[in-house]
Amino acid sequence: MASESERERVQQLQSELREHAYRYYVLDEPTISDAEYDRLFRELQELEARRPDLRTPDSPTQRVGATPLDAFRPAPHRFPMLSLQNAFSLDELRDFDERVKRNLGLEPEAVVEYIVEYKIDGLGISLTYTDGVLERGATRGDGQTGEDVTQNLKTIRAIPLRLAEVEGRPSACEIRGEAFITKDEFVRISQGREERGESPFANPRNAAAGSIRQLDSSITAQRRLQAIFYDLRTDEPPPFETQAGLLELLSEMRLRPSAPYRVVAGMAEVDALLEHLDRERHSLPYDVDGLVFKVNSIEQQRRLGTISRSPRWAIAFKFQAERGETTVNDIIASVGRTGAVTPVAIMEPVLLDGTTVSRASLHNMDEVERKGVRIGDRVVIQKAGDIIPEVIEVLADRRTGEERPFIMPTECPACGGEVAREEGEVVYRCQSPTCRAKLEGSLEHWASRGCMDIDGLGPAIIKQLVEQGLVRGIPDLYRLQHGQLAALERMGDKSASNLLAAVEASKRRPLGRIVYALGIRHVGATVAAALAEHFGSLERLAEATTEELALVRVVGPVVAQTVRRYFDDEAVRAMLDELRAVGVEASTAESAPVERRPFVVGKTFVFTGALETWTRPEAEALVQRLGGRASSSVSGKTDYVVAGPGAGSKLEKATRLGVKVLTEEEFRAAIEGGA
Ligand code: IVH
Repeated sequence: MASESERERVQQLQSELREHAYRYYVLDEPTISDAEYDRLFRELQELEARRPDLRTPDSPTQRVGATPLDAFRPAPHRFPMLSLQNAFSLDELRDFDERVKRNLGLEPEAVVEYIVEYKIDGLGISLTYTDGVLERGATRGDGQTGEDVTQNLKTIRAIPLRLAEVEGRPSACEIRGEAFITKDEFVRISQGREERGESPFANPRNAAAGSIRQLDSSITAQRRLQAIFYDLRTDEPPPFETQAGLLELLSEMRLRPSAPYRVVAGMAEVDALLEHLDRERHSLPYDVDGLVFKVNSIEQQRRLGTISRSPRWAIAFKFQAERGETTVNDIIASVGRTGAVTPVAIMEPVLLDGTTVSRASLHNMDEVERKGVRIGDRVVIQKAGDIIPEVIEVLADRRTGEERPFIMPTECPACGGEVAREEGEVVYRCQSPTCRAKLEGSLEHWASRGCMDIDGLGPAIIKQLVEQGLVRGIPDLYRLQHGQLAALERMGDKSASNLLAAVEASKRRPLGRIVYALGIRHVGATVAAALAEHFGSLERLAEATTEELALVRVVGPVVAQTVRRYFDDEAVRAMLDELRAVGVEASTAESAPVERRPFVVGKTFVFTGALETWTRPEAEALVQRLGGRASSSVSGKTDYVVAGPGAGSKLEKATRLGVKVLTEEEFRAAIEGGA
């Protein structure tokens, strides 16, 4: 390729990838498949490796891979990062409104416009952009000087390395917001830590803070942080007149602005609003610990100014973290996929934040002892980060003397195998390789979304399959017969056929997903993907030495050793042979160059009714290979419904919503024609 066209291609790829990352991480509305994104990304990586002079610091490839630091450099803030005064009641909010009016020289009857944003419970960050390029990312620190965490913040894909060039973009500015971890991600990280016997993070905030204050940015990259922004400071005259306008500009520059928000006139109807938002917040995917009321007018903000490090124009209203008191009726030992035996408190059910809570993990024996929980105790519980119920205090003065300590069983409650604690670990594990609870756990993991994605194979079905001896290991899933499935509880003829088709479709998945699905200790989705990319096949991975494994970027010596030991296990080798024999094989869909079909790229398809040429999973895989998306339900976002004979409610809905409907024939002609 001529050097000029290489330059053009690099620029084009960078801008396309930026656009797709924005759609994916900020808007949550991707228009291409992950595979297609990966393909573009790899093409850019390869080009930049060949032409390092074309690799700019704001290239999408420059998010990870920096060498670990010894310490963070201090990062003085150009504008101080202020803190907020707090209000804990409606009266205190009304007092704030009165102070604002007094300080603005307004009559008590005057109405000030406020914007009400959620107060996100994460870690405050400040991004410095010069001419649209991210130069530095810092923590808040003491408000005057923070820590330079640029390398780590660059791994967060919701943080643009370059801002969109829009009217009003200041040439130099500091943008403030919150880096955080969603509730789902917190659950994912917590489970991983519990399985590995690491001490749990108390809540998503701590998890976010711990992830950002990592000297090794590859660890931050594995934690899937998010970021939302609410402030912009610049020496230049601001191009907005209100806080709402500021949020608008952030959004135009491709940052995710603080939202949803409300603009209200005065405090007259604020009690209804508080009640509404306190309910609404539970449906947000991340934790909020309150609201922030801000005077909407920037001019009024300027006139109000700041007092002792807090703006006079804003106040935080804290939600009550709901706590409850209950009795621990029992402490049971629960066995997970890795054989970890976890003590779980079974409690008298209590209503907390709208859901009934009756179980709380006590994590491990060290935690049980540290908290001093006994069976029969009265305890105070709270939801850690609003989601995971946690025993926070034992009410020791309420003891009757009847309470009993929990004793870790020496035999596995699921299979009777030996339970032991390995040296240097806090976790007890069932040592039996044939443990039923372990098997059920590993089948659930295998079938889960991020792994082999077997739709319809949930815990209840797995339990029956294991109990009836139909499945003794993962390969048995691929030997199931229609009749065996149809005879299970809550299964019919149709659902058995669907499940069989889903099992069949799962035979071909990208290598990274298969490696993750095996459930090797310490190997999460990120490490699995890196291993897959490095070794290219399961055979080569299984043969790799500890030294070779440790060469993979995200793999440390401990992980390398665990992986090596896993593949040394005779039983594992036999299982891998069996998997190959039943036809489980890594698909090349994600690594092979994809044939793009303009007709399909970025479009969402729903298949319904009987198809002749393909099964439904095959047609869905085909669409993905061609650069589109497949979905199982029809919505406003569906571009095409491909309907075969027998199509019912989906076809009806498509017609109602005005979604284009194709016959199988038309669909085939369109993709074959390459139109
Ligand atoms: S405004 C001058 N808005 O809360 C304005 N802060 O206790 C200062 N926070 O350090 C901040 N969500 O880290 C603002 N929507 C929001 C916020 C928010 C979370 C954090 C921020 C700040 C702390 C103040």
